[in-house]
This record gives sequence, structure tokens and C-alpha cells, in this order.
Amino acid sequence: MPGVTNRFVIAPSLLAADFSRLGEEAAAVERAGADWLHLDVMDGHFVPNITFGPLVVKALRPHTQLPLDVHLMISPADPYLAAFAEAGADHISVHPEAGPHLHRSLQAIRGLGKKAGVVLNPATPVEAIVHVLDLTDIIMVMTVNPGFGGQAFIASQLSKIATLRQMIDASGRRIVLQVDGGITAKTAVQVLAAGADCLIAGTAIFGAKNYADAIADIRAASPAASNFAFSAG
Ligand code: DX5
Ligand code: ZN
Repeated sequence: MPGVTNRFVIAPSLLAADFSRLGEEAAAVERAGADWLHLDVMDGHFVPNITFGPLVVKALRPHTQLPLDVHLMISPADPYLAAFAEAGADHISVHPEAGPHLHRSLQAIRGLGKKAGVVLNPATPVEAIVHVLDLTDIIMVMTVNPGFGGQAFIASQLSKIATLRQMIDASGRRIVLQVDGGITAKTAVQVLAAGADCLIAGTAIFGAKNYADAIADIRAASPAASNFAFSAG
């Protein structure tokens, strides 16, 4: 997948950007060293907040070369998958709770030629994805309840990240393990230690005076500095 190398991926979430200047903000984080651009789509129904739809994704597309990582917090999602694909999304991730047929949603995303992601809410068990791993390019662990930026990191999700790391490694599949919510240079250390390979950060990047410094601070996070320990068995 583009952007995935031996280092971890940093995906700034545009949710925390200046919404009157989204194109400039996208270009600014690209210059500042971002790997992907994370776009949070909310419908005021699946989550208690409303953001934007495919028209805004399409408008952003010419402003950055970064892969557009689209996080759908809408229900149902299936009727809109083609519109997001046509708008220029590179990755499209859905929540299992957003529709009755996760397998079909992932098939549809892959069928549109896009990378398919599954997002696990804090209370959603890892079992939700066991039988769809063959259709999954990205697993996203929510470390906040979806709907808003700037919330506190939910540390109980660290063991879920560790379990998923083992599950992905055991499968031998090339699946990206993302973490979304409350990521700072400090929590980055913990989620990397648990096995994450893609960190999404909104407030920690767009809330900073200097985006390049903020990205560099997260990039410098080393899992070795973590107190988090998980059993390998
Ligand atoms: C929350 C979104 C996140 C959000 C993260 O529903 O999925 O992507 O932007 O924001 P921070 O990094 O501020 O917690
Ligand atoms: Zn998100």
C-alpha cells in the first residue's frame, strides 16, 4: 500500500483543520511530512455530529497527492461507497454497526478498486472482523468514541490493538493496523508498543502552531519508551 514501509504511517485528521481553508490545510500537512490524509465523514445519525460528504472529498482531491483515507461514520454506508470512490477516496473504511452486511460492504469497496477498512468502536469486539480478514486492507481501532476530535484517549483499547497485531501477523496478510482518537506524541508510544502501524491524529497536528514539528514529535515516538506490556501468548 502506498505510504506503508518499515516506518509507521502518520495520517492527520482534517476534522481538526480550519474548515474555511480545507485545501490549504491538506497541502500544508503534506508539506509537513504526513503520509496519508484522514477524512472523517459523519452523518448526525450514526454519530452525533455532521461533517461533509463526497463533494468535499472531490474538492480536496486536487490539493494533495496524499492517499485519501476516508472514515465513514454514516449509516447506511453502502449507498454512498461509489460516490466516495469516484470523488477520489483511496481507502474507504466502514463500521460493522453501520449496516447489516459487512462482508458485502467490503466486497463493494474492493470492487470499486479501493482499499477496504473496518473500524472497531471501543466496545466492538475483535471477533467482528475474524471472518472478513480476506477482504480487509485496514483495521482501524477507535481509541475514542467516534464523532468528535479532541477527546481523551481510551487506554483500555491497547490490549485490543495487541490482540489484532497478533491476529494480523498470524494471518500472514498485509493488513494495516490503524489507531484513531486521542493520539499525541505520548499516546503514540503506547499504541506503537501495542503493535499499531498507522496513527491518525487531528488535534495533535492541526491544533499545533507548527505542523511539521507536531508530525516530527509523533514520528519520534518510540515503542521502547512504553510501560505497556502485553503477553505474547
Ligand atoms: C473521531 C474521528 C477522529 C478524530 C480524531 O470520530 O474519527 O479521526 O478526528 O481526533 P483527535 O486526534 O483530536 O482525537
Ligand atoms: Zn477518523
